[in-house]
Amino acid sequence: MSQLGGVPVIILREGTESTKGKGARNKNIQAIRAVAEAVKTTLGPRGMDKMLVDSLGDVTITNDGATILDKLDVDHPGAKMAVEIAKNQDDQVGDGTTSAVIVAAQLLTVAEELMEQGVHPNTVANGFRKAMKKALTIIEEVAKPTENNPEILKHCAQTTMNSKGIAGKREFFAQIAVDVMMKVYEEGQTSYESVKNIVVLKKKGKSLQETEVISGIVLEKEPVHPLMPKSLSGGIKIATVAHAFEIKKTEFSSELRITDASQMQAFLDREEDVMKKYADKLKELGVQAVINQKGIEDTAAHYLNKAGIFAIKSVTKSDIEKLARATGATVVEDIFTMDAKDLGFAESLECKSVAGDDLVFISGCKDPKTLTVLIRGGTTSVIEEAERTLHDALSVVGTLLDKKLFVAGGGAIEMEVSARLLDFASEEKGKEQLAIESFARSLECIPIALAENAGIEPIDIIAKLRSKHAKPGSDGWGLEIYAGKPKNNYVGPNPVLEPAASIQTFIKSATELAVLILRIDEMIKARKSAGPPPGMGPGGPGGMPGMGMGGMPPGMM
Ligand SMILES: Nc1ncnc2c1ncn2[C@@H]1O[C@H](COP(=O)(O)OP(=O)(O)OP(=O)(O)O)[C@@H](O)[C@H]1O
Ligand SMILES: [Mg+2]
Repeated sequence: MSQLGGVPVIILREGTESTKGKGARNKNIQAIRAVAEAVKTTLGPRGMDKMLVDSLGDVTITNDGATILDKLDVDHPGAKMAVEIAKNQDDQVGDGTTSAVIVAAQLLTVAEELMEQGVHPNTVANGFRKAMKKALTIIEEVAKPTENNPEILKHCAQTTMNSKGIAGKREFFAQIAVDVMMKVYEEGQTSYESVKNIVVLKKKGKSLQETEVISGIVLEKEPVHPLMPKSLSGGIKIATVAHAFEIKKTEFSSELRITDASQMQAFLDREEDVMKKYADKLKELGVQAVINQKGIEDTAAHYLNKAGIFAIKSVTKSDIEKLARATGATVVEDIFTMDAKDLGFAESLECKSVAGDDLVFISGCKDPKTLTVLIRGGTTSVIEEAERTLHDALSVVGTLLDKKLFVAGGGAIEMEVSARLLDFASEEKGKEQLAIESFARSLECIPIALAENAGIEPIDIIAKLRSKHAKPGSDGWGLEIYAGKPKNNYVGPNPVLEPAASIQTFIKSATELAVLILRIDEMIKARKSAGPPPGMGPGGPGGMPGMGMGGMPPGMM
């Protein structure tokens, strides 16, 4: 409600709630802190796992910040923003989601203190932004070039896996991640993007150690005819089609009147004829294997088998596209228009039964960069955590191949940036200086959380690290959790290394979230409507379209 010349002007629908200024900010800050508390205990190698049970009773056990936040049914708009930031972090670098949320919450905590001392939220926001920009350049200065050294890539992949449930197999999986990414690596191409093209297949049974990398594509299918060959080798021509090898059913039910047996035979012959034509056409092109996105009727399967052509049907669109890309084929919708240049090539094809499931391995593809990782493991939850972890490791290696810079982890980089930012703050004037200093100290929350989660008293550790980082040339000093004490994390048999870009991205994400929250001075919550207001379709938001703040629990706003 506004006052205009003493007359109240009602601009919002009746029942709309509004919280202003400090109140609005504090509620958001509380919500983000609550989200950070939920993931904080998972940070680092000694972090705990979370068991998430969804409304259907499905259980996920994970340590992955992005997964936890994704599965949390968060309702508060501030908390939702924190979840968004984490997702964004995951999309950009695939790691560092927990760190992003913890740092954002810490920045907001110190911002609250500054605002209580009378610093305006805009001044805090500006100081934070300045500090963030400086932090990004500091990281660039401190970071070392990877020179695509596989050992460095492997150590970085291991660091990311240290904190995951399958840490016991980290060396094995780190090696897989490096091997896979080195194979797909191409100078000038974004390796991080190519992580998406790596096929990951999960099969319960055996152990994680039995996980293998297959050069090519693996499809969970069996041939459409039992007598089709179980293996083909010596170079095979593959047709990828999206053409149903079936007689089209009419939309309306129709009746066929047959008056004598010869008519019946002619009708059946005609049907067979069509089916035979598919096989004839493929044979004419010299196709040895046809992979169909659509169905293949039994009669068609019979003719394909007679023609010596291997066939599988009902392959998903994404699988057939991957296969087409890998073999250099084109997915054709009408095989009668297909010609030789639409065909793909692979060295061999083999049907194998793995853990009771039929799989078709297509290897030695035209594009050698097509790879499938077949994850094995004793239980579904182990395999799923392995998949998430492998995704983080592949992303880390991809990020390193693209950006080529690494730093020391275990809180080392955060302590170094913190120390250099404090120097930078001393050159600044006014209240922004306070905000930059607070920003610098906030970064210490990472080594603090790492220590706390490992049951180590953080005060002594932070004091020691501060004194190390006050001197030049000690930027590698961080906490080494397995040793339980500070050390130079660049060196030793198990250095703790991370891509510089992951740290830069999480600092950026965290600052963006904090600044966004600081700049909000009013939250307007639309009234929940009983039904759609007049003029709006069913399910239309009540009250204030576009505000997106409905559904908050009472008392949170
Ligand atoms: N051996 C180690 N000693 C000390 N710190 C380590 C060690 N291995 C990893 N870390 C640290 O653990 C932190 C990463 O923890 P974690 O993977 O749980 O969180 P995240 O990467 O922020 O989020 P997520 O992986 O869930 O997206 C990094 O700061 C990393 O340097
Ligand atoms: Mg991680």
